[in-house]
Amino acid sequence: RPLKGAVEFRQVGFRYPDSDVNVLSDISFSARAGETLAIMGSTGSGKTSLLGLIPRLYEADEGAVLVDGIDNRKMELETLRRQIGYVPQEIMLFSGTVAENISWGKRDASLDEIKDAAKRAQIHETIMKLPLQYDTVIGQKGVNLSGGQKQRLSIARALVRKPAILLLDDCTSALDVRTESALLAELKDLSCTILLVTQKISSTANADTILLMDDGRLLASGSHHELMQNSLLYQRIYES
Ligand code: CTP
Ligand code: MG
Repeated sequence: RPLKGAVEFRQVGFRYPDSDVNVLSDISFSARAGETLAIMGSTGSGKTSLLGLIPRLYEADEGAVLVDGIDNRKMELETLRRQIGYVPQEIMLFSGTVAENISWGKRDASLDEIKDAAKRAQIHETIMKLPLQYDTVIGQKGVNLSGGQKQRLSIARALVRKPAILLLDDCTSALDVRTESALLAELKDLSCTILLVTQKISSTANADTILLMDDGRLLASGSHHELMQNSLLYQRIYES
């Protein structure tokens, strides 16, 4: 089976429906199936908006977003979204068991599938220490989890759907460097395409391509090595 999950932006421009300012302008890049792409940029630079165009939470106003070579506006929404795992910046867990929270996007997931996703997301061991393990209720009246534990749980929720494309919106911010690199290594193993929004240089070093955004534009893109040579801004982030 050929690898699926290529993502390409062709001169994409975007503004929110109720606004007349472009939030994204002339964005072009491509990620081949199985590649990891890291997206960096200051707050408000358009990182979340960029990710949202892929599962078509919003549609591009100019240019096109292609998934496996097909304009995503021409794809059936369900077909498009089925192949995408999206971990939003604001994590949403509900008051239910750990297992229910992980299988939220795939109701028929078996316990084995749930555990496999949790292991890959580096949260299985934490879950095994909870009073009722996968049956522990979290949230209101249940066990409270730390910020980093919630992040990993919501990553597990995306993984249980076995996506070809995984969108991670700044959802490893609370993880220590060691846990994060173990997680990224596991994800590499899944050979899905990963678009990872991050502020941390520790998570960009292993990316195939890094996009540096500023004010809705792509300032620079390239490998860590290339940006270290060509981008003063990237060097400055690296040294800070
Ligand atoms: N924006 C908007 N309407 C929305 C969401 C965002 O007009 N519903 C605007 C924001 O005010 C901002 C721009 O779009 O000027 C980009 O926002 P976003 O993509 O969320 O930026 P991020 O780079 O994701 O910022 P952060 O690092 O803070 O998450
Ligand atoms: Mg954001």
